[in-house]
Amino acid sequence: MSHLVTLQPSGHNFQVEPGESILRAGLAAGFALPFSCKQGVCRTCRGKLVSGQVDLGDVHPAYLNEADRAAGYVHLCQASALSDVTLDVKELEGLAGVTVKKVPCRIAKIERAAPDVVILHLRLPMNENMMFVAGQHVEFILPGDVRRTYSIATKPSVDGVCALEVHIRQVPGGLFSEQMLNAMKERELMKFEGPLGSFHLRDSDRPAVLIAGGTGFAPMKSMLEHVFERGVHKRRAVSLYWGARTRKDLYQLEVAERWAAERPEFRFVPVLSQATADCGWSGREGLVHEAVLQDLPNLAGVEIYACGAPGMIDACRRDFIGLAGLPDASFFADAFLTRADRAVTA
Ligand SMILES: Cc1cc2nc3c(=O)[nH]c(=O)nc-3n(C[C@H](O)[C@H](O)[C@H](O)COP(=O)(O)OP(=O)(O)OC[C@H]3O[C@@H](n4cnc5c(N)ncnc54)[C@H](O)[C@@H]3O)c2cc1C
Ligand code: FES
Repeated sequence: MSHLVTLQPSGHNFQVEPGESILRAGLAAGFALPFSCKQGVCRTCRGKLVSGQVDLGDVHPAYLNEADRAAGYVHLCQASALSDVTLDVKELEGLAGVTVKKVPCRIAKIERAAPDVVILHLRLPMNENMMFVAGQHVEFILPGDVRRTYSIATKPSVDGVCALEVHIRQVPGGLFSEQMLNAMKERELMKFEGPLGSFHLRDSDRPAVLIAGGTGFAPMKSMLEHVFERGVHKRRAVSLYWGARTRKDLYQLEVAERWAAERPEFRFVPVLSQATADCGWSGREGLVHEAVLQDLPNLAGVEIYACGAPGMIDACRRDFIGLAGLPDASFFADAFLTRADRAVTA
């Protein structure tokens, strides 16, 4: 028997089948619920149970601890309803109207941007102009309905886009990023579902600090090019910190440097964690989130947008909230989880 889920404060409601995740049912019903990893890890889809009973599903205690469970927190991507339920959830206004589709695409160009980073340029059918919000991602649909997620690096357009760029770090032993990508040829056909996810720049006057780790630069590129096009950086302080191991891992350094050179209001800080003599580096060194803390020891009035490896996202969340007074509600992130990360917490 299906159950009724009611969302507060909107009053939106929808039916969920037994065992179906509340997130899945809510998205299928057309509501703009927040989500990113869909694996119970990133916390983006958190809601709070107001009434009724849920099965919390497969969430590791590291991501939903005893205190949070006792307080009624629920990860909607893993939870199913055991009765009619009411949940407190912050729905997203900025994503309303975005339609998720399965779209065929052709690989227009395979660009090696760094020793372990490939930029895929995708061309969509002429009638498939895709509408999305800067910061969202797509899921490639591989044989056997295996899915792999990649952030869109292209800026959106009011008319939709029919060319997309994704930045892929090649993970050793990775099914898609290594095995399939190494065998891939230009003009090959692929299929993806998108746009997905809720990572995007919120409408606000507060300074926005964007933090990218490695290919976490991809959604930042989309967001920033959209910010510059609309002149948002002239009325709101916007900065980008981009962390990588060595100079060559900052695979589009000249792009970000050009943004900063052309816009005195925009601040760009590249940071290397493992600079060697070969890097010829005279810039900042250390962990990228530590560079942010050195420059901005008080984060009470800013918004943080972070994208990259789960370890970096966890460190940002922990230290910004714990050491620099960042409100929990001002931290937005997409953690680039892989199957290895999922296996660690399984
Ligand atoms: C919201 C989101 C956005 C993302 N955006 C990007 C992006 O823009 N750019 C980007 O580069 N990446 C991004 N990622 C990560 C990306 O989706 C893939 O996870 C990554 O590319 C690895 O995929 P793969 O198929 O190559 O590797 P997988 O086959 O998933 O394997 C990854 C690693 O896990 C190991 N492994 C596989 N199975 C197991 C197991 N059972 N136990 C232990 N280890 C295992 C493999 O050997 C390998 O080392 C994103 C992820 C998320 C969730
Ligand atoms: S924890 Fe649910 S989307 Fe990440």
